[in-house]
Amino acid sequence: MDIDEVIKNRRSIRKYKDKPLTKEQIIDILDAGNRAPSAKNRVQWRFHVFQGEAKARLVQTCRETIEKLPKIPLMASTHNSYNIMDKAPVVILVLQTCEWGGIGPEIQSVSAAIQNMLLKAHSMGLGTVWINDVLFVEQAILQLLKIKVEESEMRSNLVEFGEKTGMQVGYSSPLIAAIALGYPDEQPEREPRFTIEEVTKWYE
Ligand SMILES: Cc1cc2nc3c(=O)[nH]c(=O)nc-3n(C[C@H](O)[C@H](O)[C@H](O)COP(=O)(O)O)c2cc1C
Repeated sequence: MDIDEVIKNRRSIRKYKDKPLTKEQIIDILDAGNRAPSAKNRVQWRFHVFQGEAKARLVQTCRETIEKLPKIPLMASTHNSYNIMDKAPVVILVLQTCEWGGIGPEIQSVSAAIQNMLLKAHSMGLGTVWINDVLFVEQAILQLLKIKVEESEMRSNLVEFGEKTGMQVGYSSPLIAAIALGYPDEQPEREPRFTIEEVTKWYE
């Protein structure tokens, strides 16, 4: 498929056929993610692929945990997102290494990897949706994955630099997003977009 066609026709897919993917298909998609550009070429993404019973346990963890949390309006979509993960044959959790503490560059690298995977999947006739709603239950997911965040020397250096310069040194969880993946069972319309004029300023 031509790159323009892939970019223009990709849509978030939230309904999937009950048809499994082969391991080769999943690896092709991970490979596309792994070819993304990354800050200092340090490939800050990590992929955790869930299918079958492991995916069911992941979704159950999300559902049970969200029930126990205080509700805020942004959470309204979580049930829907967890249902999508439940029905999709594959869910890929995408994490960042956090060697710099999860500041901007790492998230940018990982986002590039995610977009590569969404485009690759579409080019293979598969559907995806990028799911942020897992972040509300990140602690429970990190426990499930047995991941602990360690303070790194690079992050300590950055914090020190931030204190001296007033630069805001951010911190983010290792968990960035989930990708639901499968054969599409819907053909959504294009979501509205701002025009180029609305999102661009030109400097000459
Ligand atoms: C960072 C990010 C987080 C998102 N999180 C969710 C989510 O949690 N649940 C969901 O159903 N869709 C989620 N989406 C999908 C967006 O709703 C979707 O991309 C947007 O509505 C545009 O539609 P399109 O992808 O079909 O062009 C997310 C997309 C991005 C880029």
